[in-house]
Amino acid sequence: MNQIQSYINEHKDRFFNELFDLLKIPSISADTAYKSDLLKTAEAVKLSLEKAGCDKVELCKTDGNPIVYGEKIIDKNLPTVLVYGHYDVQPADPLDLWDSPPFEPIIKKTDLHPDGAIFGRGSCDDKGQMYMHVKALEFMVKTNQLPCNVKFMIEGEEEVGSPNLAIFVKNNQEKLKNDVILISDTGMIANDIPSITTGLRGLSYVEVEVTGPNRDLHSGLYGGAVANPINIITKMIASLHDEDNHITIPGFYDKVEELSKEERADMAKAPFNLENYKKALDIEAVYGETGYTTNERNSIRPTLDVNGIWGGYTGEGAKTVIASKAYAKISMRLVPHQDWLEITELFTKHFTSIAPKGVKVNVKPHHGGQGYVTPIDSIGYQAASKAYQDTFGKTPIPQRSGGSIPIVSLFEQELKSKTILMGFGLDSDAIHSPNEHFGIFNYLKGIETIPLFYKYFTALSK
Ligand code: BES
Ligand code: MN
Ligand code: MN
Repeated sequence: MNQIQSYINEHKDRFFNELFDLLKIPSISADTAYKSDLLKTAEAVKLSLEKAGCDKVELCKTDGNPIVYGEKIIDKNLPTVLVYGHYDVQPADPLDLWDSPPFEPIIKKTDLHPDGAIFGRGSCDDKGQMYMHVKALEFMVKTNQLPCNVKFMIEGEEEVGSPNLAIFVKNNQEKLKNDVILISDTGMIANDIPSITTGLRGLSYVEVEVTGPNRDLHSGLYGGAVANPINIITKMIASLHDEDNHITIPGFYDKVEELSKEERADMAKAPFNLENYKKALDIEAVYGETGYTTNERNSIRPTLDVNGIWGGYTGEGAKTVIASKAYAKISMRLVPHQDWLEITELFTKHFTSIAPKGVKVNVKPHHGGQGYVTPIDSIGYQAASKAYQDTFGKTPIPQRSGGSIPIVSLFEQELKSKTILMGFGLDSDAIHSPNEHFGIFNYLKGIETIPLFYKYFTALSK
């Protein structure tokens, strides 16, 4: 056992308990009722950074939830790692689908986590993954082997699109100055197949409203004679894909980068079992854009999905009514070079243009961000790769993810540094879903791997 392993072994119960304390606070950023819990979580993160050895930690006020900033500067001539993470979580509902309460963390074994996994909202996304960095720092400081400077920026609004982070970054360029940004808020292929995320998709999230008559109507007296907004909205949405599951919005694919044969062949080398994939989701067949594999469909291809749709009568029994309005929330996942503002505009124009006379359409943009790809020949990627090599005994596979952390491309634009996405979760960890969990193996492996990243990054920077 090496030094970090024995440190983890000695302190792991405390590492679990401390994370549990964070997970117990329901820091749901989407719901304003939890405002004080977000503040409480920010205070707890601040305290944890102080205890881990940061010299300066502060809560930075924003128009929303505070950003926790911490730093330990040991020598201005050494490189600086900026760690980003988020302490806010997704809402826990539907609550009745949780096997144990979302904010009462417990450890249970699963098929993919035979050593146990921590169940609770935020365990993987992102409190557990963020906290690995705090504990890695603790190890490096307590054992006198922090090889470079470190800064932490932990926000409380990632799950609602980071509305106040861009301005904070723009106004604090000097404070946030760094040589590499390190984030654990993504996943890896499997516990025995380590991978490093090299890409994130962009996002455009909109809400559409289709209005027909000025009031709800009797469906017998008016049905068939006026446009029913629910009939219309579903028709309009259905037309957004063609029979090959291509998106029909004019111009949507104009900037999509087509990968070369070699790049696609490389991607296809990553282990993937379609039968297991289908079995885990209880589906008989996968579904998606013609001409692309499942792994391509959920990483290098853009998509359009309805996230929610409502209108009319959904209560008990039956009510014969034509609703005045129908709504849907629609997200588009974008790939690098697609500009999210441009896509939002294309969507708005197209969706409005396909509405029949007799309804009015209103498109409200929510939030979004650009996609991101990071090169694998950078010092940062190489350092991460070496770190995984040491702790997993295997070279990690570069892998583009389908998820989004929209602020990452802004980091590069404003702070001029690359982001390394060392995510230790699994896709099956149920982030955003009931029974979210994070493997104990993954949590501890993350804590073990991170200090090696610092070591190799500092060495390679010389
Ligand atoms: N941590 C996730 C993103 C993620 C998860 C990326 C797994 C790759 C693999 C993040 O917290 C998240 O949920 N992002 C949102 C977008 C955000 C603007 C709400 C997403 O991807 O839907
Ligand atoms: Mn996250
Ligand atoms: Mn999330």
